[in-house]
Amino acid sequence: MSTPFATSLGSPPVHAVDSKPQDTLYLQIAERLAQSIRAGTLSRGERIPSVRDLARQQGVSPSTAVQAYRALEDARLIEARPRSGYFVAARPARLPEPEPSAPPAASLPVDVSSLGEQVMRLAMDPAYISFGAACPSGELFAQERVRRAVSRAAQRHRASLCRYPLGPGNDGLRRAIARHALGMGCQLDPRDILVTNGCLESISLCLRAVTRPGDVVALESPTYFGFLEILESMHLRALEIPTHPRTGLSLDALQLAFDTQPVKAVLAVPTLSNPMGSCMPLADRKRLAQMLSQRGIPLIEDVLYNDLAEQDDKRRAVKAFDSTGDVMICGSFSKTVAPGIRLGWVEGGRWSAQLRRLKAVHSGGHTELLEVAMADLLTQPGHESAYRQLRATVAARVDEARGLIAESFPKGTRVTDPAGGFILWVELPAGIDSVALFHACLARKICIAPGTMFSATDRFRHCIRLGVGGRWDEAQRAALREVGAIARRMLG
Ligand SMILES: Cc1ncc(COP(=O)(O)O)c(C=O)c1O
Repeated sequence: MSTPFATSLGSPPVHAVDSKPQDTLYLQIAERLAQSIRAGTLSRGERIPSVRDLARQQGVSPSTAVQAYRALEDARLIEARPRSGYFVAARPARLPEPEPSAPPAASLPVDVSSLGEQVMRLAMDPAYISFGAACPSGELFAQERVRRAVSRAAQRHRASLCRYPLGPGNDGLRRAIARHALGMGCQLDPRDILVTNGCLESISLCLRAVTRPGDVVALESPTYFGFLEILESMHLRALEIPTHPRTGLSLDALQLAFDTQPVKAVLAVPTLSNPMGSCMPLADRKRLAQMLSQRGIPLIEDVLYNDLAEQDDKRRAVKAFDSTGDVMICGSFSKTVAPGIRLGWVEGGRWSAQLRRLKAVHSGGHTELLEVAMADLLTQPGHESAYRQLRATVAARVDEARGLIAESFPKGTRVTDPAGGFILWVELPAGIDSVALFHACLARKICIAPGTMFSATDRFRHCIRLGVGGRWDEAQRAALREVGAIARRMLG
């Protein structure tokens, strides 16, 4: 059954693989309203009926009306204003989105580390305004709740500090992660979940389990530079696959790569890829799972950003469609709950036993006290509403940043419009060298991430990645305008 609402948001048609009739009533109402907004019948900034009036008009329960409004809010078509009601959202001026990427069809060795190190170091340096790292700042999180959970765990589990943490991780946390994964459509057995030191460790373990030096790994293009750094350190070759800024990996290109290249694994972020923010349509997720099981090629699926996606269907993992254990799913709570607790997880499908051995050999267990605190945070009531709040805060920020880019960057600039998260990928006019722009910005104490960090090729030299999850106030707004002004000057 198709989900008309998703279609109306400018994404290609998607198919809700298992939607139930009662799930679609609110989507039908949302779709009718979305059409009125698109047709201009309801104009930007106009007030729309209250939940009670909508329920009465449509002959549905107030909770269905609330669901319809939530779907429209998630799609940023309407906004709730405190004590005033619901309004059609006013979006800032739009720039066109970047073109789909077209990397070469051959795999390449990777050599990217030096810039990445500098960008990450400057992200921590208070003397710089940093848009370079994808690090959310503390005020985005429920800091007091985190502090209370850690001190509760410290009181109740003191003894664990004097015990060696052996094994795959705290049972309560693994159960909480399995419950959390249900929200992505995945039925995981807690016993198969391995707790790690963050998503990057999960990914390294998966790559170690399924590759040897010299093997080819297929990735999105552009891709997260941390992946390229891991590939470089493990002497793996990157095969970049054409990627669309909204819909992600081209599965036709991936199929061709499977047919013509010795691909040993796929490493991808199907929801809110970094840096483009693309989200693979549901039908593609299902097709990808089938392609993998036909070939027995593993997908290392990074679901780090799934909870930041604005629509439920985009949160569903490829793992949800995996019946053969070919998907290794990797997550963490670094972007959504508490980066400093530094915990991640992995369920390794067919490779679960190898992962457990590799983990024991390479890094052992974790501070159990923090595992207990994380389990507590994940199971507290209000946890879901904290995600909603986080999504709304970063969506407003991303809209504002896109508006500033439209105002101040050179003519011909393109920028992504991600369906969640806090990362923007900016394609500048062809004459701009992003590494020169990076150095010119550093001289003004502003850090950006040059496009060259996100590929083993040199194809993104005119692009930059901007992370707007850090501090956000007048200084950041001025700095973003300044990046645009420097880029304009560079073009003469
Ligand atoms: C796509 C992606 N995966 C993994 C990571 C690292 O996650 P963690 O901090 O949990 O290791 C990042 C960090 O920016 C990321 O963007």
